[in-house]
Order: sequence, then structure tokens, then C-alpha cells
Amino acid sequence: MLKMASMKTEWNSSKKRTHLCASLSLEQEGKEVRLNGWLRSTRDHGQILFIDLEDQSGLVQINCNTEKIKGLLGYLNYDCTLFVKGIVKKRPPSMQNKKIKTGQIEVLAEEIEVLGTAKTPPFRKGDNVNENLTLKYRYLDLRRQKKLRENLKIRHKVLSLIRQELSQQDFLEIETPILYKSTPEGARDYLVPSRKQPGSFYALPQSPQTLKQLLMISGFEKYFQIAKCFRDEDLRANRQPEFSQLDIEMSFIEEQDIYQLTEHLVKSIWKEIKQEDIQDFPHMSYQEALDRFGTDKPDLRNPLELKTIPQSWLKSQDVKVLKSALNENSSAKALFIKGLELSRTQAEDLQKQVKSLAAEGVLWIQKKAGEWKSPIQKHLEASHLEELYSLSGGAEDGVCLIQSGETEFINVILSHFITFFGKQRQLIDESKTKFLWIKDFPYFYFDTSINKWTALHHPFTLPKLKSLDELSDPDQMKNIKARSYDLVCNGQELAGGSLRIFNEDIQRKIFSLLGMTKNETEKNFGFFLEALRYGAPPHGGIAWGIERLVMILTESESIREVMAFPKSARGTCLMSESPTPISIENLTELGLSIKR
Ligand code: AMO
Repeated sequence: MLKMASMKTEWNSSKKRTHLCASLSLEQEGKEVRLNGWLRSTRDHGQILFIDLEDQSGLVQINCNTEKIKGLLGYLNYDCTLFVKGIVKKRPPSMQNKKIKTGQIEVLAEEIEVLGTAKTPPFRKGDNVNENLTLKYRYLDLRRQKKLRENLKIRHKVLSLIRQELSQQDFLEIETPILYKSTPEGARDYLVPSRKQPGSFYALPQSPQTLKQLLMISGFEKYFQIAKCFRDEDLRANRQPEFSQLDIEMSFIEEQDIYQLTEHLVKSIWKEIKQEDIQDFPHMSYQEALDRFGTDKPDLRNPLELKTIPQSWLKSQDVKVLKSALNENSSAKALFIKGLELSRTQAEDLQKQVKSLAAEGVLWIQKKAGEWKSPIQKHLEASHLEELYSLSGGAEDGVCLIQSGETEFINVILSHFITFFGKQRQLIDESKTKFLWIKDFPYFYFDTSINKWTALHHPFTLPKLKSLDELSDPDQMKNIKARSYDLVCNGQELAGGSLRIFNEDIQRKIFSLLGMTKNETEKNFGFFLEALRYGAPPHGGIAWGIERLVMILTESESIREVMAFPKSARGTCLMSESPTPISIENLTELGLSIKR
């Protein structure tokens, strides 16, 4: 008997599901079932109305007698939530649908109730919509896009696996505070005003770096945490202001111990999620990576590499456009792309790309069936042009791109072209996953944007020193290397870490080399320096970017695809419209005023 359908919003155990929609099959034929889910579509066949009901497991077809649910028809909108009670029936052969798991059956409705009514949504499955709209209605987008839901499932699986693996190896998961003090990782801090101490602020941790080191001093020798980190920095496709790290720290260890643990985790994760055996974890120095690929995050799936044109050759020639290579900290480097032939438009496009990267232009030489083409053809003897082509890595027909200037700058441009031509000419084997350890980083680098020396990793990293005197001589700064390492995967920095300073004097010297006064050091890190006096163990660790890990595993282009509620490129949550201005009352309570 079909009961009169109703519009009550009561929810009680009599309406709770007995089955998931997609779990139904001929096995339940003739049985009464109760289902909960969303209305995905309706098909009106006069006396019968078919409803596609979907829950987290998938879809099932509901067969309703239209006459009996008349009062409800106006509410049966796309995306409303339903309670359905009915009998599982075999569909007549002509009505079976091989495309869905439950295609052999349907549920003959006895009772239907709309639990939550639904307005017409701003977009539906398959609609091509502006990303800002999807972020505003993120909860609907998560419901609509299977890929997003799958990504979050994989994220969950990965985190469970990590917890399981590390627990088995006696690691303890320990949570550290979010309301804390500045933990420098190279970005700006997010600050939280204190009501009880007006004018004082907490900083949200950029990472739990000092806290995990303090835990080592406490005697927890193996720590991990899935830690929320906050960094106020410019956003990119793989960066968010708020993200998660798998943060690890261990005592009485060396680099080798971190490599082993990390490689073990990588192997387990790739085996479980991708059914892929990862074997190779090559090592490369920072300098070699920059020389060969122009970046410290090379994608080893891409076979393109750079060549440095010898200074001796440049000195012996008078190639005006390459003269800047002879200046301090400068060079001329080249990229050979086999088989490439540049049309006039392509050559123009190259120059446009270079200009967008703030360079004046890029030199190119093309060889095709013994014919040479290049903007410098007129200024260089044929044999010298050929020599330059060959010094640039050119052998067969193709194009050499040559860039000269400050090495740091030309690396940026040529590494851009490595990626561009790698993709354009389909040279990257997307089916593979390639890992690489980068090590021997310089400890310090001079940040020209702020005119200051900064730590390339962070200032708690152990320096590689022959003698402590090196830390007393600022002229030595550029030569000091760090005991740090990055794990790069397919051209992305997946994880980074280091061995740590466990001696107060060295830590103080590093702060001082970074230009911190005694007062600033005491104010910011006095508590930490004091802790180093109480028997600090040699220790070290690493942190993985969880979102980057899941991005790689799910082959996602943007970090937003692997987070439930990401921020927009401007760091706004378009759904809640945060950040929002606060009221005068709030400001007064916090002892703050806004300067406009
Ligand atoms: P680092 O700053 O290298 O090291 O960060 C570790 C990893 O975190 C990820 N990551 C990010 N992911 C998303 N959005 C961001 N804005 C973002 N910034 C970083 C990257 C990176 O490799 N305390 C040290 C680790 C240590 O020394 O143990 C640290 O945080 O995948």
C-alpha cells in the first residue's frame, strides 16, 4: 500500500536507511528497504514518475505512482533530500540499464518524504561554471563533482596509512598549539590579537618547527603530526595560506635515517594508492640541479637539460647579445630542443614569453637540413654559429635557445622553457613518478628584495662547518652549506627538512649572522635558546606538504582540488566571505583601531 507522501521535517529512526542505494541488487528482490539520499533527476511517464536517488554509494531508480504523490510533486526538485520506503523489484528486461550498478532493479515506492527541500542550485553536474561561483557554493560543488569527493577519499586513505605506518614504528602523534609565537619559514605570519593582553598578539605557526624540536628536548624521540600551518604569502597553484604538513622529528639520527623513513613511506603510499612500485630515489646537489635544469625542483620525467656555454668561448667572440654573460655572477646557458622548427609566429611567441618573465629577449639558432636561421646570423661567421650551436648542446636538426645574464635570472627563464617545451613536445612521460633528493643547499642567500641575508631552509638547520670560526666571519656566509634536504617529485617540492642545531652557541651565531640583535634574539627565541641548555639531543626531521602529496597522487592541477574548503587566489573564503571587517566593539575590546 502506498502511503500518502508527506512534507514533514521530522527525522527519526523509522526513516533511517536500511541499505545504501548502490548496494541494492536482485539479492534484495521482494524485500522492503528504506533509503535516504538526494534526488538527482525525475522522468515523468504519466502514471509513473521515475526518480534517481543518490547517496554516497551511488544511484538507484525509484518507481512512484504519480497519483499517490501528487501533493509532493512541487517539492521534488533536483537536489532535495528524500526518505523512501519501498520494495525492491526486478526491472523488465527492456528497462534494464547496464550503465549503472543497480540497473537490473528499481524500488517500488510505498512511502516518500521530502526531508530537505531544495532551491534551484546555481549549477548542476556537468555545467561549465566560473570557479569563484563554485567556491562560493563549495558545499554544492563537492556534492556535484565526483573527482573532488574521490580526492578527499584518497586524502583520507593516505593520512590513515601514514598514521598506521608511523605508529607501527613507535612514532607518537602529538598535537602542538595553533595560538603560538612566530616560527619563521620565510613567509609573513598571521597574527591573532589577545583580548586579555591588549596590544599583544599570537602568531599562527608557519610550521611546528620550534615546538617539535622542544618535544625532542622533552625526550620524545619519534614525533609526528598532521599539522595545520599558516603562511601569509603569495598564492600559486600549489600553495594555500592554510595547509597541512606531515611533520616528523627524530632524535639521535642522521640524514640517512630520514631518507630511509621517507622512502619507506613513499613506497607504501604509492603501492597502496597507485599500485606502483617506486624504487629509485637518486640524490643530486643543489648546484648540479641549478646547472642542469635551472631549478632546484627538476622534473626528471622531462629529458630536456641546459648547457653552460664556456666563458672562454664567449671571451674569444664578439657576440653582443651574449656579452652580459661575462659580468659577475653571470653566464650564458642554452637549451637544445631536438626536431623543433620555429615558424615566425612561434619565434615571436617565444619573445613574448620571455618578456612576460621580465627579460629583454632570448637568442635562438635553428638548424634544418644544413640550413641555419638565427637573428645573429649576420653578425657571426657560419663556422662560429655552428660552434655556438654545438656548445649549446645542439647536434641534429632543432633549435637552441640561448640566454645570457645573471645566472639566477636566466635559470628562471630557461627552466620555464624546459617545462614549456617538455609539455608542448610531449616529452614528459606522465605515466611515471620520479623522485629526487636535493641536498647540499647553501645555508644562506642574499634576498635582494629586502636587502638581507636569509636562511634558505630555516635558521634552526645545522650548518656544515669545518670550524666554528666560519660562523664568526660574515664573508664566509655564501660558502656555508646546510645539512638540509628536499624531496622533489615530478618537479614539485614535496617535502623538506634538515638536521638541527642542538647547541646554544651555534644557534645564537646563526641568528646573529642573520642580522638579529641580541635583544630581538632574546625576545623572539630566548625560551628556545634556554631549552637548548638542558641536554638537547642531536635531532632532525622533515615535513611533507599533504596537499602536494595528494595533488600528485590524484594528478590534480590545483591545490584547491584536494582541500575541502580552499581559499581563492586572493586568500578569501568566498563561501563565508572571510576575512571580514570586525565591529568597533570587537576592536575596542582588543585595544585596536584600524588606520585607513
Ligand atoms: P618547508 O617550509 O619546506 O619546511 O615546508 C615543508 C613542505 O610543506 C609544503 N608547503 C606548502 N604546501 C601548501 N601551501 C603552502 N603555502 C606551503 N608551504 C610549504 C611543501 C613543503 O615541502 N619546518 C620545516 C620542515 C622541517 O625542517 O622539518 C618546513 O616547514 O610541500
